[in-house]
Amino acid sequence: DLAEKGGYPDFMLKEIHEQPRVVRDTLAGRMAGGMLTIDELDLSHDELNLIDRIYVIACGTSYHAGLVAKQLIEGWARIPTEVEVASEFRYRNPIITPTTLVVAVSQSGETADTLAAIRDARVRGAKVFGITNVVGSPVARESDGVIYTKANKEIAVASTKSFLGQVVSLTLLAMLLAQSKGKLTTSQIKLLFKELADTAEQIETILSDTAAIDKAALACKDACSSLFIGRGLGAAICAEGALKLKEISYLHAESYPAGEMKHGPIALIDDGFPVVAVATQSPTYEKTISNLQESRARGALIVAIATEGDTEIEKHADYVIYIPKVRDCFSPITASVPLQLFARAIAVARGCDVDQPRNLAKSVTVE
Ligand code: AGP
Repeated sequence: DLAEKGGYPDFMLKEIHEQPRVVRDTLAGRMAGGMLTIDELDLSHDELNLIDRIYVIACGTSYHAGLVAKQLIEGWARIPTEVEVASEFRYRNPIITPTTLVVAVSQSGETADTLAAIRDARVRGAKVFGITNVVGSPVARESDGVIYTKANKEIAVASTKSFLGQVVSLTLLAMLLAQSKGKLTTSQIKLLFKELADTAEQIETILSDTAAIDKAALACKDACSSLFIGRGLGAAICAEGALKLKEISYLHAESYPAGEMKHGPIALIDDGFPVVAVATQSPTYEKTISNLQESRARGALIVAIATEGDTEIEKHADYVIYIPKVRDCFSPITASVPLQLFARAIAVARGCDVDQPRNLAKSVTVE
C-alpha cells in the first residue's frame, strides 16, 4: 500500500505532487514552429475559425475547470462561451447551431449526465470535443475529437491532478481558438506557451514548502463553515477550493465572487469565521483587498493566497500563503495547488479519510 502511494501517506498527496509532471506531459509536442497544434481534435483551421458559440459542459470539479475556460476563451478568442453543469444542460433547450462547439470535460469519461449531454448536443448538430483522462472512455468514444489530460490514473476520490490537467488542456484549447481566429499573434502564442510551461516549476516551488498552508489550516480546522472569495479567475478557483474542502473535510465551504459579499454572505461573518481569499496580482486586486477589509472589520479570520513579494497584503490577512508571480491567465494553475493542500491539511487534522470521503464515488455513472 505504502509503495503504491509512493511513500506519501495518502493518494491525494501523491497526486497533488504529480502535478508538475501533468503540466509537462499535457504540453509535450503541442508547439511546432510557433504554431500550436492539437491534432487529435481533427478540425481544420477553417472549421475552428467558424465556431461562434461554445458550451462547456461538465460536473463537479470538471465544471470548475470550465469556469476557468470560459474566461480564457472569451478573453483571448472572443467567442461567447457558457459553462453549464451537465445535469442542467441535458434537460433544457440550449441554442445549438452547426457552428456551436460543445466541450465536454470529464476526468472519468463516464459521468452519466455528461454523456447524456454529449449525445443530446450531437443530435442537435453541435461538434463535440471531449476532454478526459481515460483513454477509450465513453466521452472519448462519443466525441468528435478528444484531448487527453495526461494525469494518469487518479485514485483519490477528490480530483486534484486531473483538474490541473483539465485547466492546462482548456488553456491550450483557448489559445488554439485564438490562434485560428487571428486574435493572438504567433509571438504572443509563443510567449504564453512558454509561461504556461513555466508553471510546472512554479508548482514545484509551492510544493517544496507548505509550512504556511499547514499553519493556516490548523487555525481553521475547528470552524463549522467558511467562505472562499475571489474575483475573475480567482472566483473560479475559489469554487474548486470550496468543493475540495467540503468533500474531504466535511467543513462547510461556500464560494462567492468577492464583489457579492455585501449582497448577502457578509452576514455570516462573526469572530473567527474563516474567509479564504484568492488575492493574487490581477486587474481586480485592489477590489479584493477592500472586500478583505470589510470581512476583517467584522471579525473574519482571513487566509489569503497572494503573490510572492506582496507584503502589503499582510496588513489585511491573518495568514498569507505566497505563490510565485505568474500572468493572471495562469493563476488558476498555481493558485489551485495551495487550496488543494489547505483542504487536505484540514481533513487530516479533523481525522478524515482524505482518499475515500463518505458518500462519494470516484465516478458517477448513474443519474
Ligand atoms: C471531484 O473532486 C469530485 N469528486 C467530483 O465533483 C467530480 O469532479 C465529478 O463527479 C465529475 O466527474 P468526472 O470529471 O469524472 O466527470
